[in-house]
Amino acid sequence: MKKPVKGSGARVVRTKLKKNNKLKPSSRRWLERHLNDPYVQRSKADGYRSRAAYKLTEIDDKHKLLKPGQRVVDLGAAPGGWCQVAAARVRSTPEDVRVVGIDYLPVDPVPGATILELDFLDDSAPDRLMKTLGGAPDIVLSDMAAPTTGHRRTDHIRTMHLCEIAADFAVSVLKPGGHFLAKTFQGGTENALLDLLKRNFRSVQHIKPPASRDESVELYLLAKDFKGRQEAPETDDAEEA
Ligand SMILES: C[S@@+](CC[C@H](N)C(=O)[O-])C[C@H]1O[C@@H](n2cnc3c(N)ncnc32)[C@H](O)[C@@H]1O
Repeated sequence: MKKPVKGSGARVVRTKLKKNNKLKPSSRRWLERHLNDPYVQRSKADGYRSRAAYKLTEIDDKHKLLKPGQRVVDLGAAPGGWCQVAAARVRSTPEDVRVVGIDYLPVDPVPGATILELDFLDDSAPDRLMKTLGGAPDIVLSDMAAPTTGHRRTDHIRTMHLCEIAADFAVSVLKPGGHFLAKTFQGGTENALLDLLKRNFRSVQHIKPPASRDESVELYLLAKDFKGRQEAPETDDAEEA
């Protein structure tokens, strides 16, 4: 039975699954919520690979991060929604690719983006990203989420670890004035990570775009205006050597 429902500015159609199907009640509830999610329905109409595309769209509409001609790294790119949004906004083309993504899952080609099928935690990943991008990025995006284990605390710790490695990468490769945007969790951001970002960026904030579900503890960390790499002060040891 399908009824129209309101949400996200698009006309959506409500789907109810029959109770006698073979799904567990929790899976049935998840599938029903997914099928009735206005962002999911809108993403199909707009040709986006994921509802996540709207999170980046909403964040960028508000914070004005992506500009034509910029170089972008997208960590955790599958199935490619953020790459689609970034490629369109920086006007990346197949002739002059400005967006490089990475995921250990395969991703169907996204025009204007090169996507590496590789684990970001692999030692070779940073070099391969930088060689493929062909210049320092203006923006490092990370929507990486560790695969769910069913144990919420473990999942959070593993995703926070990805966020920390992404932040280290951003600080070591970004152009001065560049930005870092990464998925994190409410209450999950460690002080050491916040300190690192506050030392290296002129503004650091937690944000939750409307497309991020209210019931989800997901948040995004936005660090704007990278100060540039500072030379490490010489230590006594270095002077003596
Ligand atoms: C929420 S999805 C990203 C959705 C994407 N932003 C979009 O709009 O289509 C998170 C992704 O992070 C990826 N991921 C998690 N750990 C990773 C790692 N160590 N290296 C590369 N990708 C990783 C997962 O495979 C998954 O595809």
